[in-house]
Amino acid sequence: MTPVAPGPKPTLLNAFSYRPGRDPLAFFTDLARTYGDIVAYRLGGEQLYFVNDPQQIKDILITNNRNFTKGRALQRTKRLLGEGLLTSEGATHLRQRRLVQPAFHRERIAAYADTMVEYADRSRGRWRDGATLDVAQEMNRLTLSIVGKTLFDVDVQSQAAEVGVALTRVIETFWMTMLPFSDLLEHLPVPKLRRARAARAQLDAIIYGMIAERRQSGRDHGDLLSMLLSAQDEEAEGAGGLMSDEQVRDEAMTIFLAGHETTANALTWTWYLLSTAPDVEVKLHAEVDRALQGKLPGVTDIAALPFVERVVTESMRLYPPAWIIGRRAITAYPLGPYMAPARSIMVMSPFVVQRDARYYKEPERFDPDRWTPEFRAALPKFAYFPFGGGPRQCIGESFAWMELILLVATIAQQWQLRLVPGHPVVPQPLVTLRTKHGMRMTVTQRT
Ligand code: HEM
Repeated sequence: MTPVAPGPKPTLLNAFSYRPGRDPLAFFTDLARTYGDIVAYRLGGEQLYFVNDPQQIKDILITNNRNFTKGRALQRTKRLLGEGLLTSEGATHLRQRRLVQPAFHRERIAAYADTMVEYADRSRGRWRDGATLDVAQEMNRLTLSIVGKTLFDVDVQSQAAEVGVALTRVIETFWMTMLPFSDLLEHLPVPKLRRARAARAQLDAIIYGMIAERRQSGRDHGDLLSMLLSAQDEEAEGAGGLMSDEQVRDEAMTIFLAGHETTANALTWTWYLLSTAPDVEVKLHAEVDRALQGKLPGVTDIAALPFVERVVTESMRLYPPAWIIGRRAITAYPLGPYMAPARSIMVMSPFVVQRDARYYKEPERFDPDRWTPEFRAALPKFAYFPFGGGPRQCIGESFAWMELILLVATIAQQWQLRLVPGHPVVPQPLVTLRTKHGMRMTVTQRT
């Protein structure tokens, strides 16, 4: 007989104590530390398996990825994102991925470095010595304008850009649409949602307008939208294998939404961690000053900023923006000695695995210096996986690394950020790992 995986028994008491609701991070950490690498439990009528073993995670995301779908949760976002990369499955996903991939090639992304630094320079130029800011909000604004410029060649911050206003409205409520009861919300007269619906229609009109204009003029703006418009599918018949207008719209919207909040979160947590570790901050400042000599960074400076990269790596270890990844099994799936029935949900958490003492000494400590080449080489694959893995691995990973390193370097060159004493730092694990009360910090100009 197949053994049953350990996990909290479905008693009435456990039904109350084993709920992720109030504090999901503590809930999942506790499950892993109590029951081990494979934990079975039932939640909301679903059979879940919480998988904490890097090898098993690799098998689910890569080796046996065909046995899984991303499942229903994402289907709800289809209303906004259509059949974009995040929401499509199977053959459609594969085809779209092949088409979109060239827009994220290293050389193409390198061309965005100057835009990233230019916007970071503008942000830091607005700060005043001794001011207190919500750094979470600042980082959100900054990454939003970067994705707006690199994707659509529009300046989201300028009030004149109606696309900026429409996008902001849609984003404000995007996360609401991911809630389980979002179907209901759609029909309620919530003013924010009504505005968002109107904004979504307006945004569609703007994007389709841009697509039509660009198809007609044939002008290459050097942005992602131009890349998407010229992407060719060699295997497709008709229309030269180009994406339809609707597909371009769906991918553009997907990249726009997937591409800024995650990065903003990573930056916010990085500033927080640096403010708790002055010795690390001193090293960071020294490297930035030495490497840049007062100039703004460019893509060629990245190689001279290895400590900045370690700081960001370590920050995403402790606070991975995509803190949880899920897959639904299509057929029964063997998990070590156990057999997960068809339709079970596999839950994998970078947050939990990346704080596991088996892989990280003093796992709760913010220690960028642990990331030596030897440590990296010895670390099991998928003991660190902030960008997922396999065919659904984050397509924006190189974009994100470049953005994180350049933004940290540009801002740290001029400013020191300190958490306002007493400000409550509470992680809020929604779709991404946000901060519940923002991140109030005081900025001091470096002399
Ligand atoms: C620190 C920043 C980021 C993190 C931590 C992150 C994380 C992730 C993860 C974990 C996934 C896979 C989810 C799964 O397997 O279920 C993913 C997918 C994706 N990400 Fe990112 N991401 C980041 C930045 C970006 C950026 C900058 C872009 C675009 C400009 C982007 C676009 C996407 C897209 C389109 C997908 C779907 C890929 C597919 O299913 O084929 N991400 N991201």
